Amino acid sequence: SPKLEYLLTETRGRVALVTLHRPKALNALCNGLFVELNQVLKDFDNNKDIGSIVITGSERAFAAGADIKEMKDRQFIENYVEDFLGHWTQITKIRKPIIAAVNGFALGGGCELAMMCDIIYAGDKAVFGQPEIKLGTIPGAGGTQRLVKAVGKSKAMEMCLTGSVNLTAQEAEAAGLVSKVYPAEQVLDEAIKTASKIANLSTPVVQMVKDAINQSFEMPLQAGLTFERRLFHSTFASNDQKEGMGAFAEKRKPNFTNN
Ligand code: CAA
Repeated sequence: SPKLEYLLTETRGRVALVTLHRPKALNALCNGLFVELNQVLKDFDNNKDIGSIVITGSERAFAAGADIKEMKDRQFIENYVEDFLGHWTQITKIRKPIIAAVNGFALGGGCELAMMCDIIYAGDKAVFGQPEIKLGTIPGAGGTQRLVKAVGKSKAMEMCLTGSVNLTAQEAEAAGLVSKVYPAEQVLDEAIKTASKIANLSTPVVQMVKDAINQSFEMPLQAGLTFERRLFHSTFASNDQKEGMGAFAEKRKPNFTNN
C-alpha cells in the first residue's frame, strides 16, 4: 500500500484501525489527510478480511476541524467549481460500520467527521463543538444537519450560533451524540472491543443493519419500514441466517461465514 503522510493504519483481527496522525496541527483535516482517509477506508471496505473500522486521533485531539490555514484564502468560485469539501462525504458511503474513538478536541470538521461515523465513543476529556461562526463561516460538513438530529435543535443552535458553547463528553452522552464515555486511556480499547464484536457477526447482515438505520434519516417512516422488512426477508437467503437461528435451536455458538 502507498505510504501515508497523515494516517497510521493497522488491523486487529477483523478490525481495521485508522489513526489520524497530524500531531503538529491537532489533526486539522487538510485536503491531503482526507484524500488518504477516503482511500484507506475504501480499501478496508473492499477487504473481505475486515468487518468493521475504528477511527481515532490523539489524546489531545480527535481533530480540531478543517485546516483553517489551508482554506483561509480560498474564493467562492473555486469552492463552488471544485465542490470544496464535497469529497468528505465519501466516508458516509462506506458500508462497513465505523466507530469513532474520540479523545480531546472534536471541533468543527472534527465533530462533523465523528458524526459521519456510525458509533461515537468518547474519552472523558473529549470536547465537541462547532466553532466555525467565530471564523466568519458556518459548518460545512454536517454541523447544521447531523448535529440537530443527534442533540436536538436548541443545543445545535446554541453550539453553532455561539461557536463557543461546546459539549463535554458527559453532556454529549446525555444528549445522545455519543453512546458511551470511558476514561481517556480506555476509549480506544473499548471501541476496538465493540468493533470486533461487530466484525465477528455476519458482515453482510451487519451491512444491512447499517444500511437500514441510515435509511431512517432519508426516508418517511412507511418507506423505511418497508425497506427494513425487505432486507429482513432477504437475510433468509443467507447461510448466516440459517446458521444463526440453527445454532440457537441447537444450543451452540453460531459460526458465521459471511455468506
Ligand atoms: N486548522 C489549522 N491549524 C490548526 C487548527 C485548524 N483547524 N487547529 C489547530 N491548529 C494548529 C494551530 O494553528 C497550532 O499550530 P502552530 O503550532 O503552527 O501555531 C497547532 O495546531 C496547535 O494549536 P494551538 O496552539 O491553537 O493549541 P491550543 O491548545 O492553544 O488550542 C484549540 C487548541 C482550541 C483546538 C485551537 O487550536 C483552535 O481553536 N483550533 C481551531 C478550531 C476551529 O475553529 N475549528 C473549526 C475549523 S473550520 C471547519 O472545520 C469548517 C467545517 O465545518 C468543515
